[in-house]
Amino acid sequence: MSKLNIGIILGSTRQGRLSPQVGEWVKNIADQRGDANYEIVDIADYKLPLLGEEDATEQATAWNTKLASLDGFVFIVQEYNHSISASLKNALDYAREAWNDKAAGIVSYGSVGGARAAEHLRGILGELSVADVRVHPALSLFTDFENPFTPEMAFKPADLHLVNLNGMLDQVLAWSGALKTLR
Ligand SMILES: Cc1cc2nc3c(=O)[nH]c(=O)nc-3n(C[C@H](O)[C@H](O)[C@H](O)COP(=O)(O)O)c2cc1C
Repeated sequence: MSKLNIGIILGSTRQGRLSPQVGEWVKNIADQRGDANYEIVDIADYKLPLLGEEDATEQATAWNTKLASLDGFVFIVQEYNHSISASLKNALDYAREAWNDKAAGIVSYGSVGGARAAEHLRGILGELSVADVRVHPALSLFTDFENPFTPEMAFKPADLHLVNLNGMLDQVLAWSGALKTLR
């Protein structure tokens, strides 16, 4: 059987964002497993305007084509005002069928592990028929990053997160494989 395609979606687009560092960490660990094709999917690359504000047929088509090529997702989620970023919500709103009947895991960060953003995302994923798995690495801005809240802030995750990261990936692969049979 061919390997599943799993997109690691960077949820933030602001200049100076930390999501690429977190996404690379997930991809490195995931690639070492060798059990799926993992790729970083950067929302910023798709230059999606706010939904409906202007004609964005080309960007929307490119975004939907990328999502359609994926069997499952790992969302890199950062907490913005107790929720997900506006750019992630906008990108979620830009597709429907391309999300449906797929699985997702969440890796979040924030002052309390991005927990509130992650729980908001779970509600949205339900509406998009994305099955979000239980295991959830939640990273602290205070203890999983060096030089917190300075321009030199750098991602240095505690080793304990590896267990949850691998547990989350196990669940995403299991459900992505199962849901592929529905599509
Ligand atoms: C507009 C805004 C709102 C934020 N609100 C919260 C918040 O409610 N809770 C929290 O834990 N962190 C909050 N933060 C801190 C972010 O989680 C932190 O800056 C994180 O690095 C953002 O992800 P990014 O670097 O990938 O953009 C906020 C940051 C911004 C820019």
